[in-house]
Amino acid sequence: MHDKKVALITGANKGIGFETARQLGQRGMTVLVGARDAERGEAAAKRLREEGLDARFVRLDVTDGATIDAAAKWIERELGRLDVLVNNAGIVVDQQKPSECNLDDVRKVYDANVFGVIAVTQAMLPLLRRSAPHARIVNVSSGLGSFALQTDPRSPYASINILGYNSSKAALNMVTVQFAKELRDTGIKVNAADPGYTATDLNNNSGTQTVAEGTEASVKLATLDDDGPTGGYFDRMGPVPW
Ligand SMILES: NC(=O)c1ccc[n+]([C@@H]2O[C@H](COP(=O)([O-])OP(=O)(O)OC[C@H]3O[C@@H](n4cnc5c(N)ncnc54)[C@H](OP(=O)(O)O)[C@@H]3O)[C@@H](O)[C@H]2O)c1
Repeated sequence: MHDKKVALITGANKGIGFETARQLGQRGMTVLVGARDAERGEAAAKRLREEGLDARFVRLDVTDGATIDAAAKWIERELGRLDVLVNNAGIVVDQQKPSECNLDDVRKVYDANVFGVIAVTQAMLPLLRRSAPHARIVNVSSGLGSFALQTDPRSPYASINILGYNSSKAALNMVTVQFAKELRDTGIKVNAADPGYTATDLNNNSGTQTVAEGTEASVKLATLDDDGPTGGYFDRMGPVPW
């Protein structure tokens, strides 16, 4: 039996996902670098191994059920269980006004940011249950998915009207709550993380936080004690209003 904790991070070849894998690796976990592109994923895992971490590439496109199933089978065969799942992969496509955005673009965003998270969570749950009550699921959401912040004129997020992305993250928040309620009795904790506005390729590196700062919430929620929260929504400073 593999003695280290095992964490799978989707979209871990760069940005916040890569840094999450690094930091969980630094905490002694075996980190599975999920990536849809083999070359980028292998390169990221190799970089972490060169830093002395136990990192392995797993091909995983969150919009492709065959790669999700293959990843779950591989993890079962190689490691036998999963302790942490960080649903980090996410995209933004539509930037136009809601009245003008392309519906196919909105669907693409939902495929990755919402349906992808549901599919990966369902596929990995049997492996996570083997580590109950200590297993943790982190869904990487965004402050832009908060109804409270979107409707508060004092919030800097109130003026950011990206229909597909913002509504996908609001949906992901509810997905988080639904899984948390189902799993409450198992001890498996499911929480939504808001990284905060972080400089990555997602926003052409315009974010005001460093990637290390943007990773804090995910790492905290991935390493919660057994008396920690479930079904919540947190940034690195604490709870975010729904
Ligand atoms: N940066 C911010 O300010 C910010 C704020 C709030 C929330 N977030 C959230 O944080 C998460 C990470 O974003 P980031 O800022 O680190 O962006 P990023 O640098 O663009 O990284 C996104 C990652 O997701 C991967 N990905 C996209 N579609 C995928 C798919 N279908 N299957 C598997 N992987 C896929 C990308 O892979 P490729 O390299 O193959 O494209 C990449 O590894 C996202 O969920 C994002 O919504 C970011």
